Amino acid sequence: MIEVKNITKSFGDLTVLKNFTVNFKEEGVTVILGPSGTGKSTLLRCINGLENIDSGDILVDGLSVNDKKNLRHIRLNCGMVFQQTVLFPHLDVMHNMTVSPIKLLKLSKKEAEERAEFYLNKVGLISKKKSRHNELSGGEQQRIAIARALMMNPKALLLDEVTSALDPEMSSEVLNILEKLAADGVCMLAVTHEMSFAKKVASRILFLDKGSLVCDEPVERFFRETRNENERISRFLNFIGE
Ligand SMILES: Nc1ncnc2c1ncn2[C@@H]1O[C@H](COP(=O)(O)OP(=O)(O)O)[C@@H](O)[C@H]1O
Ligand SMILES: [Mg+2]
Repeated sequence: MIEVKNITKSFGDLTVLKNFTVNFKEEGVTVILGPSGTGKSTLLRCINGLENIDSGDILVDGLSVNDKKNLRHIRLNCGMVFQQTVLFPHLDVMHNMTVSPIKLLKLSKKEAEERAEFYLNKVGLISKKKSRHNELSGGEQQRIAIARALMMNPKALLLDEVTSALDPEMSSEVLNILEKLAADGVCMLAVTHEMSFAKKVASRILFLDKGSLVCDEPVERFFRETRNENERISRFLNFIGE
C-alpha cells in the first residue's frame, strides 16, 4: 500500500534519509525505532507529503507524492497523529471531528455525527463530545486526535510518538486504544519508544539509524535475536532501559 522507493531527503547540508527503501502492506502494526534525530518523523512526514523528497518516489495506493494533485488523496488515506495535538480551540470535540469529513468526504452533518459518535465510543470519550480543547487532559486530546484521524477511514494511521508528551497513566490509556484498533485490523506505522506496546501489538520492527534502515524484521526475531546480534540496536535498547 505504501512503497518508499530509494528516497533521499536533505535539509540544507544535512542528509536525513539516504537512498531509503521500504514497503508497507495494508495490514498489521509496524513500529519504527531509532535514536533521536535519525529521520523517523521525516520519513512519516514524507509519506504524508508534508515534506518534499529530493529524489526517489513514494507511492501510496499507487499514487506518487511527487505529483501535487495526489496529495489530497494520499492524506485522506494516511491519517497522521503527532506527539502533541492541537484541536481547533474554537470548536467542541464533535465539531472538531466532523468538520473535515463534511468538507472533504462530503458526508452530511448527520452522517458525520453518527460516525463521530461511533469513534468517540471507540476511544471511550463520548461523554466529552461537547468539550473544548482546554477542557481535556493531554491523554484525552490524543484519544480525540486518533478518533478524528479515523473519521476519514484512512488505510493507515501514521503515529509519531503520540504518547511521549503524556504521563504514564495517560500514556497507557492511549496505548490501550491503539491496541484495540490494532486488534480491529487498523494498519499503523508507529514511531514510539514504548517497548511493551511494540512487543504486544507490533508485527514488524524497523530500526533506523542516521537515515538508514538498520533492520526490518518480525517483532519476535527483533527482541529475541537481533537485539543481541546487532551492537547498535543493543546499545539503543539498553539506553532506553529495555
Ligand atoms: N524542517 C526541518 N528543517 C531543518 N532540519 C530539520 C527539519 N526537520 C528535521 N530536521 C532535522 O533532521 C534530522 C531528523 O529529524 P527527525 O526526522 O525529526 O528525527 P527523529 O524523528 O528520528 O528524531 C534532525 O537532525 C533534525 O534536526
Ligand atoms: Mg521524531
